[in-house]
Amino acid sequence: MRDALKIAVIGGGSSYLPELVEGYIKRKDEFPIRELWLVDVDEGREKLEIVGAMAKRMVKAAGLDWLVTCTLDRREALAGADFVTTQFRVGLLDARIKDERIPLSHGVLGQETKGAGGMFKALRTIPVILDIVKDMGELCPDAWLVNFTNPAGMVTEAAIFHGGWKRTVGLCNVPIGLVKNAASQLKLPAEDLTVRFAGLNHFNWHRVWDNEGNDRTAELIDLQYKPGEATDDDNIPKNIANVGYHYEVIKDVGLLPCYYHRYYYSTGNMLEEAIKGFSTGKTRAEEVKRTEARLFELYKDPALDYKPEELSNRGGAYYSDAACELVTSIYNNKGTEMVVSVANNGALPDLPRDCVVEVSASVTAHGPECFAWGPFPPGPRGMVQHMKAMEQIIIEAAVTGDYGKALHGFCLNPLIPAGSLGKEIFDQLLIAHKDYLPQFKDAIARIEKEQPETVAYVNALLK
Ligand code: G6P
Repeated sequence: MRDALKIAVIGGGSSYLPELVEGYIKRKDEFPIRELWLVDVDEGREKLEIVGAMAKRMVKAAGLDWLVTCTLDRREALAGADFVTTQFRVGLLDARIKDERIPLSHGVLGQETKGAGGMFKALRTIPVILDIVKDMGELCPDAWLVNFTNPAGMVTEAAIFHGGWKRTVGLCNVPIGLVKNAASQLKLPAEDLTVRFAGLNHFNWHRVWDNEGNDRTAELIDLQYKPGEATDDDNIPKNIANVGYHYEVIKDVGLLPCYYHRYYYSTGNMLEEAIKGFSTGKTRAEEVKRTEARLFELYKDPALDYKPEELSNRGGAYYSDAACELVTSIYNNKGTEMVVSVANNGALPDLPRDCVVEVSASVTAHGPECFAWGPFPPGPRGMVQHMKAMEQIIIEAAVTGDYGKALHGFCLNPLIPAGSLGKEIFDQLLIAHKDYLPQFKDAIARIEKEQPETVAYVNALLK
C-alpha cells in the first residue's frame, strides 16, 4: 500500500467528524495520511463547511500538513482514495425524527437501528451505498470501504453481497464499551481478557475469558444483571435507556447480551421509556438534533481546535477508536483483535455463509480474519436466524423497491405488531420519506391516491 494515503469520508459534515479526526491524529505515526477528503451532499453543505474548518484547525494544531478538502463532489473525493469511510445519514436528522415519531405515535418502537426506524433507514440508505461502491469500482478500485452508517449490518451486507464490494468492513462502537465494562466488573485490565462476540450488529452476544483461560461469562452475568435492577455499566451508550433485564433469563441464555438486546429481552420497558420521550418532545432523535445544534455552534468558534466535551452526549463514544484502529491495522498488518461486520463464511454456522455477521476477528492486511464461534444455544440461535431473515428481506426490498417484500420484512421484525397496525405504520413511513425512497414511487403514488387518511395522519403528526 502507498505511503501517502488518501482518505475519503462520506458524510464528512457529520457532527461526529472531530471524533474521527482526533482518532487519526492519535495514530499519526502509524498511518501516513496525506489527504483527507470530506464529502457531503448539498443539504449538508453548511455543516460540512463548519465542521470541515474545525477539522482543518485540529490538524493544524497537531502540527500536521495533511491536506483537508471539503467537497460536494463525491467522485472527486473518491478518485484514488485508499480508504473510504461512510457515516452519512440520508435525509439528515429530520428523517430520524420521522422514523421515531410515527411508530411511537402508535405505541410502537421507532428506534433508529432495531425498530421501525432502522428498517426505513436501511430502505433509504442501501441504494446510496450501492451507488457509492459503483463509483468506487471506477475511481478507487483497490480501496477499503469502512462503513459506520446505520443500520451498519444491513448496509454492509448490501455493499458486499449486492454491490460486490468484498473489501467492505462494517464497524460499531458498542463492543468496545462492553469490553471496558467486563474489565471493570472483573477488576482486570482489558488486555488480560479474551472477549469473543458473535451475532449481528446491535444484536450480538459475547463470552469472556481471563488470561488463565477461565471462562468468566457466568460470573459477569451475576455481577451485572441483578434481579430487577438497572445494570451497573458506565459505558452504556447515551442513546440507550439503562433498563434492567430479567436476570433469570440472561442466566439461562448463558451469554452476555449487547446493550441493544434490551429492545428484545425487555421490550415493554424500553417502549415505556421511548413513549415518555415521545410525549415530551424528547425522542432520541429530537434530543440529538438539539445536541447537534449546540455542537455546531461550538464548532463555529475559530479558536476551537479540539473535540469538545459536549460530543460525549452522543451515543457514538469510541467510534474513532474502532474506525482508526481498523484502518491502521489493515495498513500495518497489525492483527488487532476487533469486532467487525463482515461476510460470515462459516464463522457462525447457524447463519448462511453468504450474509454479514458481526464477530470478533483479527484484522490484517487482508482484512478481518474471523474467529469461529460455533453453534449458538437454542434461544439466541432462533433470535439471530429470525433477525437475519428480516434483514435480508429488507435489503432485497431496498434494492428492488418491492412493496410486498418491504412490508413482509417490516412485519417480521419482532418489535412491530404484524397485521393492520404494522401496515398502517409502514404506509405512513413510506409517505413521510417519499423524497428519499425513489424505488417505492409507484407504491407511494398508490397510497397517496387511495389512502388520503394516511397522508393526512403524517401531515398532522409532523407539522
Ligand atoms: C450507538 C450505536 C451507534 C449509533 C449511536 C447513536 O453508539 O452503536 O450505531 O449511531 O449509538 O447515538 P445518537 O447520539 O445518535 O443517538
